[in-house]
Amino acid sequence: MIPLIRGFKDILPDDTPVWKAIEETAAALFQSFGFKEIRLPIVEKAELFQRSIGENTDIVEKEMYTFSTGKGEMITLRPEATASVVRAYIQQQLYAKDPVQKLYTIGPMFRRERPQKGRYRQFYQINAEVFGIGAPYIDAQLIVMLWNLFERLAIGGLSVQLNSLGCPVCRPAFKQALTDMLEEGTGVLCADCLRRKDKNPMRVLDCKVPACRDVMKDAPSMTDYLCEDCASHFSKVQSALGLQQIPFVLNPRLVRGLDYYTRTAFEIQTDALGAQNAIAGGGRYDGLVKALDGPEQPAIGFAIGLDRLVELVSQAMPQQSLTPDVFIAAIGEELQEKAFEWSCALGLSGVQTEIDFSGKSLKALMKRADRLGAAHVLIAGSQEMAQGSVILRNMKNKEQVPVPIDGMVDHIKQYLKDYQCCKESEKKKKAIPEPVRVIRF
Ligand code: HAM
Repeated sequence: MIPLIRGFKDILPDDTPVWKAIEETAAALFQSFGFKEIRLPIVEKAELFQRSIGENTDIVEKEMYTFSTGKGEMITLRPEATASVVRAYIQQQLYAKDPVQKLYTIGPMFRRERPQKGRYRQFYQINAEVFGIGAPYIDAQLIVMLWNLFERLAIGGLSVQLNSLGCPVCRPAFKQALTDMLEEGTGVLCADCLRRKDKNPMRVLDCKVPACRDVMKDAPSMTDYLCEDCASHFSKVQSALGLQQIPFVLNPRLVRGLDYYTRTAFEIQTDALGAQNAIAGGGRYDGLVKALDGPEQPAIGFAIGLDRLVELVSQAMPQQSLTPDVFIAAIGEELQEKAFEWSCALGLSGVQTEIDFSGKSLKALMKRADRLGAAHVLIAGSQEMAQGSVILRNMKNKEQVPVPIDGMVDHIKQYLKDYQCCKESEKKKKAIPEPVRVIRF
């Protein structure tokens, strides 16, 4: 066997329903906030990520899967989607139609990080990006939307971590103050931070190494250095969040690992996943569209780590895999062609159908139906066929009803409908147990 590559994973059939449920819940919610879906390539020119995420970030320095095409061109498996969405906004001139664009996209990202629980080399994100709106209300609205998504998915134990990273006007003074402080701690900083100190001092703020944390405990806060415009913007984001009763924690250590951010930066963190505690992260990137040769347009967005969110949702709700409504048990070789026709007709009419063409004994077929969790088994043998009907057996209450072969699909659909109604009304009156209704044709 050739196993899969370290850091990559299969998403198995029992797990895909949770993935789909999350994706559908997110898409429905985002659409009601005016977002439209965009689908993008997973490979882009390496330069796109180098210029947007930043040369001195961990992602660009050591985590990108970059290949030469052999023609002098370097291409990269996307480590994130924001750069690609910005590229499409510019290249497809979406701004010309309307500078305000609200876009979401779902798909795989690739980073060559050290694999561990919650951290993969191929992972999935749901991204939402807004272009053309600088108002602080949109920052708050994105967080409201995210928070509501987690509420819809019934996930608790979350916190919104919030910071402002300022702008090119106010950030240099903060960086200088930070660099001055770091000079004093050079003896104890970890190797990564020693490198970051000169090139990207803000990243030292969120280093997890205890010695670095110690040096940073008296570090200045960006919020003390914000210019008037950034301070006022940040204050409005906070009061708008307050209006929507979104709890948040001001976190001056939150710097995010990508260089394009300006002003609002946020993360949604959980206490249920161990070290990889961020399930979503985002922020404003007002300078990026211009920096990638587009028009000057503000922008903000976030990405949800789908793998981590699935893990949380699976912890909260039991797995529900798809099971057949009807399993066709046709006994004997001579009935297989008929059974094939029935299975096609039932499947095409929307009844979830499973069939075993092996012509095995009824006992073996019933065993298989049981293993598959089939709700009903359609039993056909030569005796039933001679009478012009087959038997539909309810696997739960063991009730068996004859179904005429003529018009069989419609009869079965009607039976399933009646049975469903029966089950639902029984659920409602579950305090008063009633005998199971027998439906006959
Ligand atoms: P990010 O913080 O790098 O931001 O990633 C967002 C989320 O993706 C993280 O919070 C985490 O849940 C998930 N994630 C990241 N790396 C991995 C990994 N190796 N394995 C599993 N999950 C992972 C961005 O990517 C920005 N583009 C977000 C953004 C959108 N900012 C503005 N717009």
